[in-house]
Amino acid sequence: MIVIRTMQQKDIEKVMAIEQVVCEFPWTSSIYSDCIKVGYSCWVLEEKQEILGYGLLSVGAIADGLMAAAANEAHILNLCVHPDRQHQGLGRKMMQHLIQQAKNLYANSVYLEVRLSNKNAFALYTQLGFEVVGRRKDYYPAAGGREDALVLELHF
Ligand SMILES: CC(C)(COP(=O)(O)OP(=O)(O)OC[C@H]1O[C@@H](n2cnc3c(N)ncnc32)[C@H](O)[C@@H]1OP(=O)(O)O)[C@@H](O)C(=O)NCCC(=O)NCCS
Repeated sequence: MIVIRTMQQKDIEKVMAIEQVVCEFPWTSSIYSDCIKVGYSCWVLEEKQEILGYGLLSVGAIADGLMAAAANEAHILNLCVHPDRQHQGLGRKMMQHLIQQAKNLYANSVYLEVRLSNKNAFALYTQLGFEVVGRRKDYYPAAGGREDALVLELHF
């Protein structure tokens, strides 16, 4: 059975093993460690104690006179599925979980950036209702230069 549970510091080694295979420009282990430490919403997909993928979300908080910490904007920071387990619905499962977490934390929009060339991820996001709301020029490092990011939003 595949479960989604919170990512812990002890998971980072296995997370990095996936990260280094699927990402051309991988995050470092210290970035993952910091995301956990600062309290971002960090999750792993697990089956029989094997990590199959992971997703990270941050939710921005605003303060006003009535509600001490009401969040209204969430950002998906990363999403990866082990290459041997892609195209089996796991990416969608993690995205649905992250979207639900954002709703639980009173967000009314979820934003993310995706490489212009990342057709698989783009297809997943648009299938879930995300819409393109912007483009950041030269946002990502890329082989031979930089690559633009599309900014996508899912508004509840
Ligand atoms: C993007 C990623 C997370 C998708 O995970 P996944 O588990 O393979 O995706 P799913 O099986 O849940 O697919 C969900 C939908 O995504 C789209 N999709 C996924 N892989 C696709 C592919 N190879 N070609 C076209 N569409 C694809 C489809 O719309 C698919 O729906 P369908 O199965 O009904 O056609 C995975 O490919 C990955 O880890 N890529 C490398 C890291 C990355 O690019 N992360 C995103 C950074 S913004």
